[in-house]
Amino acid sequence: MIRATKLTKFYDEQQIFKDMSFEVGENTGLFITGPSGCGKTTLLRILAGFDTDYSGQILIDGTEIQKELEPRNRNIAIVFQEPTLWNHMSVEQNLAYGMKKKNMQELKLLAEKLQIAELLKKYPEEISGGQAKRVSLARALLSGKKNLLLDEPLSNVDPKTKEIILDFLKQEYLDKKCVLYITHDKDEIGSLPFEVMEMRI
Ligand SMILES: Nc1ncnc2c1ncn2[C@@H]1O[C@H](COP(=O)(O)OP(=O)(O)OP(=O)(O)O)[C@@H](O)[C@H]1O
Ligand SMILES: [Mg+2]
Repeated sequence: MIRATKLTKFYDEQQIFKDMSFEVGENTGLFITGPSGCGKTTLLRILAGFDTDYSGQILIDGTEIQKELEPRNRNIAIVFQEPTLWNHMSVEQNLAYGMKKKNMQELKLLAEKLQIAELLKKYPEEISGGQAKRVSLARALLSGKKNLLLDEPLSNVDPKTKEIILDFLKQEYLDKKCVLYITHDKDEIGSLPFEVMEMRI
C-alpha cells in the first residue's frame, strides 16, 4: 500500500507538482500518465527514497516514511526509466542478487516469459537497452518486494510480445502487488484493471 498526501516538489524555483495526493491499495495498481517533463519519474524517485527534497507525507504499508529511511528498507522495488544493472555481474547474477530465496526455477521461468532467457550468462554491456529494461523488470519482480514502481517498463517491446508479457505479469505477479505504473501506452492501460492518474505540467 502506498499513500501520498500533499506531496510538493520544487527544483530550485521550478514547481514540479504541488499538493499531490493519491492512494494505491494492496493487490492493485495505478497508471500514471502525463506529458514529458511533468514529474512522473521525479514522483517515483521520491517514493523510493532517492530524492528527499520534497514536502508532504508518504505512507508505505501503513507506516509513515521518514526521509532518512533508505530505499532498500522501504519494501519497494523500482524499475528506472534508464535501466540500472550491476555491470560486474552477469544477467543471472543481477537477477538472483536481490532474491531472498534463490529459487532458480522461478528465475528461469520468468526470464523465459520476459524473453530474456538466452541472455542469462551475458553481462549488461553485452545486451541491448530494451533487453536491459526487461532484465531490470525481472529483477524487481524477483525481489519479492510488495510495492512496485515501474517507469515505462515495456516502452521498447513490440505490441504482440507486450500483450503476451502483460498477460503473464497480470496473472503471476502484478495481481499480488501494489503497483505504480508509468506509461503512455494504450495497450498497457487497456490490459490491466488499474485506475489512471493524469499528471499535468
Ligand atoms: N536533477 C534535476 N534538476 C533540475 N531539474 C530537474 C532535475 N530532474 C528533473 N528535472 C526537471 O523536473 C521536471 C520533471 O522531470 P521528470 O523526469 O520527473 O519528468 P517525466 O514526467 O518523468 O518526463 P518523461 O516522460 O520525459 O520521462 C522536468 O522539467 C525536468 O527538467
Ligand atoms: Mg520520466
